[in-house]
Amino acid sequence: MKDLKKIFVPYESIDSKFLPQTTKFTSKYLINGKLGEWHGDLHQVISPIFTAEDDEHGHIVGTYPKMGTKEAMAALDAAVQAYNHGYGEWPAMSVAERINCMRKFVLMMKEQRDEIARLLMWEIGKSLQDSYKEFDRTVGYINDTIEAMKDLDRSSSRFTISEGILAQIRRAPLGVVLCMGPFNYPLNETFTTLIPALIMGNTIVFKPPKLGVLLLTPLLNAFREAFPAGVVNTIYGRGKEVITPIMESGKVDVLAFIGSSKVADVLKKEHPHPHRLKCVLGLDAKNPAIILKDADLDTAVKETLLGSLSFNGQRCTALKIIFVHEDIAESYLQKLSEAVENLTIGLPWEDGVSITPLAEAGKPDYLTEMIADAVSKGATVVNPNGGKRYKSLFFPAILKNVNETMAVFREEQFGPIIPVVTFKDVDEPLNYVIGSNYGQQASIFGKDSQQIAHLIDILVNQVCRVNVNAQCQRGPDIFPFTGRKDSAEGTLSVSDALRVFSIRTLVATKGTDLNKEIFTEIVKDNKSKFLNTDFIF
Ligand code: G3H
Repeated sequence: MKDLKKIFVPYESIDSKFLPQTTKFTSKYLINGKLGEWHGDLHQVISPIFTAEDDEHGHIVGTYPKMGTKEAMAALDAAVQAYNHGYGEWPAMSVAERINCMRKFVLMMKEQRDEIARLLMWEIGKSLQDSYKEFDRTVGYINDTIEAMKDLDRSSSRFTISEGILAQIRRAPLGVVLCMGPFNYPLNETFTTLIPALIMGNTIVFKPPKLGVLLLTPLLNAFREAFPAGVVNTIYGRGKEVITPIMESGKVDVLAFIGSSKVADVLKKEHPHPHRLKCVLGLDAKNPAIILKDADLDTAVKETLLGSLSFNGQRCTALKIIFVHEDIAESYLQKLSEAVENLTIGLPWEDGVSITPLAEAGKPDYLTEMIADAVSKGATVVNPNGGKRYKSLFFPAILKNVNETMAVFREEQFGPIIPVVTFKDVDEPLNYVIGSNYGQQASIFGKDSQQIAHLIDILVNQVCRVNVNAQCQRGPDIFPFTGRKDSAEGTLSVSDALRVFSIRTLVATKGTDLNKEIFTEIVKDNKSKFLNTDFIF
């Protein structure tokens, strides 16, 4: 492994193509169709990347407005006004017109690809390759959403007749959506709720995560140009000052939040009419891998390595605990240790890098404490460089002999520690899953179809995706993504997301001659945007 102290280099020596170009010290925000220049207090954006000149903290890449309650309420009012009880220009627009606005947005967004990738690297330490992947996946998600929206509209472009009643059933928007994404996928996961909410005709207030703010600023102009005023509004600042008053106002119809269940619970309680608030939540997880006695070790090592350490383990879908059968535990650990030791730790733009600076300032201390707690209770760090650290760099640690007395057994580490538990009887990992507060996904590794089938049948009622001989993951994005217990509320996928941000609404009439004539005239002369049989090609 390289000397960690040599990884951070002088600022001047960094190739300018990896440096953010336009948003240095940005202080822009978007409210009610206006790109405001902020003159109040600013929040410094401190990168997890240090340069040789930075000592105490990472490099300062910019600033964003430290807004207060007044500005947050102005953003909310703009969204409420743009929705205007469903009479606003945006919710009242035809689906085809909304799709055209979204197309315009995505074209403008594509122009910002390089700058957004650079900001992803500097704000959250994501590798260049993964930053581009996040960007491209998001563009793909928007294009797929447009197609799914067309399909949904086409299937609603007909009348249904039953028991003498004829009706047209469509999906209508819900109102004002408050969108908040997580720091690990600040673009992608924010957009997996924001885009479907938008295209369904809702209006938006969105707050970027506490890390990963600047990378959204190159898109503010695209939001402004592509959508009517007030349809998308941004707020920044401390949750207590900007989110609590918005929730307490009771004017938020949908809360789309990806983060911790603790914060989600607080936010939901702040709303004065909980039954009116719809929630779409992506929350905590502690996905286990269960490696059976007959598992193909190379596959198990490859997939658990990727599953635990992609983006330094900072994925909600990451494998966060590994259960391995005692007969193969030693060989598995040896192979896994070799694979981990071969990983390259370095700066996000280095070729072949997989371990990069950790986004959260307190994370290396937290991980070190977690390892110390486990070691003091009988665990051992398997790989020679496991847990070595310098500033924001932390080399992944594999822990063996993990048991239920240790914090790492139940806590979601969200970082590069791989806890390994040895089992004799498969009921041990199954009981772990049953007793867990989380229920997102699980992975099984093995060859015996009988045993795998038995595990599948138990696990499908505990988690929402069972991966066989593969790591846990969200994608492909057309697959449903959800969880049980403290892991999620609502289901997201390209098509499911259109459903969660809308409600089925119908127009019905008794099939008398007069009513048929009225409906025919409305449809023939295109008098209504809802009661309409237009087919979008
Ligand atoms: O952090 C959660 C992300 O949705 C994970 O997505 O599994 O496709 O990397 P992914």
